[in-house]
Amino acid sequence: CLESMAEEAVLGYLEKNEEISDSGKFAEEKGINHDEIVNIIKSLNGFRLVDAQDIKKERWVLTPEGDLYAKYGSPEVLLFSAVPPEGITREELQEKLKSSIYKIGSTQAIKNKWIEMGKSQVSRKVQQVDDKVRSLLIQIQNGEVVSSEDIDALKRRKLISSQIWKGYSVKKGPKYAPKRKKVATDLTRENLQRGDWKELEFKEYNFLAKGQPTEGGCLHPLLKVRRQIQMIFLQMGFEEMPTNNFVESSFWNFDALFQPQQHPARDSHDTFFLKEPSTTRRLPEDYVERVKRVHESGGYGSRGYGYEWKREEANKNLLRTHTTAVSSRMLYALAQGPFAPKRYYSIDRVFRNEAVDRTHLAEFHQIEGLICDRGLTLGHLIGVLHDFFSRLGMSKLKFKPAYNPYTEPSMEIFSYHEGLQKWVEIGNSGMFRPEMLLPMGLPEDVQVIAWGLSLERPTMILYGIDNIRDLFGHKVDLSLIKRNPVCRLGL
Ligand code: PHE
Repeated sequence: CLESMAEEAVLGYLEKNEEISDSGKFAEEKGINHDEIVNIIKSLNGFRLVDAQDIKKERWVLTPEGDLYAKYGSPEVLLFSAVPPEGITREELQEKLKSSIYKIGSTQAIKNKWIEMGKSQVSRKVQQVDDKVRSLLIQIQNGEVVSSEDIDALKRRKLISSQIWKGYSVKKGPKYAPKRKKVATDLTRENLQRGDWKELEFKEYNFLAKGQPTEGGCLHPLLKVRRQIQMIFLQMGFEEMPTNNFVESSFWNFDALFQPQQHPARDSHDTFFLKEPSTTRRLPEDYVERVKRVHESGGYGSRGYGYEWKREEANKNLLRTHTTAVSSRMLYALAQGPFAPKRYYSIDRVFRNEAVDRTHLAEFHQIEGLICDRGLTLGHLIGVLHDFFSRLGMSKLKFKPAYNPYTEPSMEIFSYHEGLQKWVEIGNSGMFRPEMLLPMGLPEDVQVIAWGLSLERPTMILYGIDNIRDLFGHKVDLSLIKRNPVCRLGL
């Protein structure tokens, strides 16, 4: 093979000679490609069979233009040849030649005093000319030495450029041998059986070698941010709510939340209703009765919505549109025992029948937190939101009055994004209405403050992703997931 040929040539030469003074010349003499020789020298040098010293030389090579002249002749000679002994008009000459050859050729030929250019007539001043430029270029191409004035002239015309040539001079190294002994990389069962392990020379360990990049084991950014938020909730004393039911009844998703049955969010535009099973089997009947009453005629200081509440509407199964459906189940369950204050959170998937674009998907994740206690106020909510979001690295917050059927007051949450240099909406919050809490059976002096946000939004901000489809869904960008570090330090 080529490699062993080059290796034999180098080691064999050094057996009889002191040194290889120039790997370039050596390669030429032996008729071996110089790159091949260089690779072998590097490898032999690494194992100290040889001792190699760098040599660098400045070399002249032809530019593409120089190449053309070397092949077809210089423009001045081409132009001269196009001028017949009896002369020619400028127009005729111009027609005979390519415009670049006409331009460069005439300038040079005039400079050389080869031709004369009158107003309309071009004529020869000499009988014949020599293509010195072309022969110089061919000499350089062949690696012959050329005078420095000639080099300068060619350089000025940009027909040649300098190139650094790298090669080696090579002597025997401390471990020189005329033939490289193949070193063993593994101790095999056969080596042990044959007993030849005693004679084997083993390759040394290279502790500086970089290992193979590891494949797999990449965490999705959503999982990492979910983990981070989970830790924040746990540090703040929150318990996780069970969110393992993507299918929910309209009752818990909407009715229990005092969301009227004609509310646009219930339309099939926004909600995926289930075909099979299309309705829920069981609801707590006495509570359903109280919810019906509060929708129809109010109570607990409310006038209600004044419409005819329909059980069939509440029975319809759907894919939950928010995790507040889980909160309503949890608060109802809490109300069934003696009251105890609670802090609950959840992070899980929700579904909305929306047009998919750069910032919207039909399924995404919601983060939800709530505190249920006596005597809570809007001030508590604002305080908790500051605490929660500053732990996420968002400490500049603004609130804007908003509307949710189940909270009063309601506030949209904005955070100042230093990177984007603007306020971005990051969540929604509020105090659950008495029309929601009292039918559940919670004591009258108990309030619930709550907030919700998507998991995707902060993840996209933290990871600098501007298209949600790169993050989640069937078009997810796997290389983005592999590229990101296992953990993020700071925010
Ligand atoms: N459920 C609301 C949403 O989907 C978020 C929210 C939760 C608002 C709790 C107020 C209180 O946007």
